[in-house]
Amino acid sequence: MVVRSVLLLGDPRLRERSLPVPPDAIGSPELNQLIDDLRDTMAAREGAGLAAPQIGVLWRVVIFGITHNRRYPEAPPIPETILINPEWTPLDEEQESGWEGCLSVPGRRAQIPRARRLHYQALTPDGQRIQRTVEGFHARVVQHEGDHLNGVLFPDRLPPADSAAPQEDAETGVSG
Ligand code: NI
Repeated sequence: MVVRSVLLLGDPRLRERSLPVPPDAIGSPELNQLIDDLRDTMAAREGAGLAAPQIGVLWRVVIFGITHNRRYPEAPPIPETILINPEWTPLDEEQESGWEGCLSVPGRRAQIPRARRLHYQALTPDGQRIQRTVEGFHARVVQHEGDHLNGVLFPDRLPPADSAAPQEDAETGVSG
């Protein structure tokens, strides 16, 4: 079990656009080690998701999943999902706000508007294609983690004239 340190807001690596994983890296020891480290680090930190750049690897890989988690008692379960080179498309114009936090932005949470429904596709660690149409919290997690791959952090998405609430005021939300 390898728990990596999570980069924090202010680290320039969090602002980079991560690179696609090359096809010949699928199934490689390097990629499989990255996935193991993401899984172990997310579990140790009780996150709902984690993106590779958060542990300093600028590849387009994210992990998320939630079962019963004391940090998110009201969040619906999401199966553990690993996405390589994900692409996502909002399915309607409607946005809804919901609480988000981030392991790279400790101590802050905020209500962030996101597309309510979306379709995503990606490769799995064994090179299969995965496609899902999701909504609500699942859609929010994908957008949050996907943002990390483009160098975007949730405070960038704050509506104008809004500010992050203290963490103790937050209820459930994404943290990754
Ligand atoms: Ni995050």
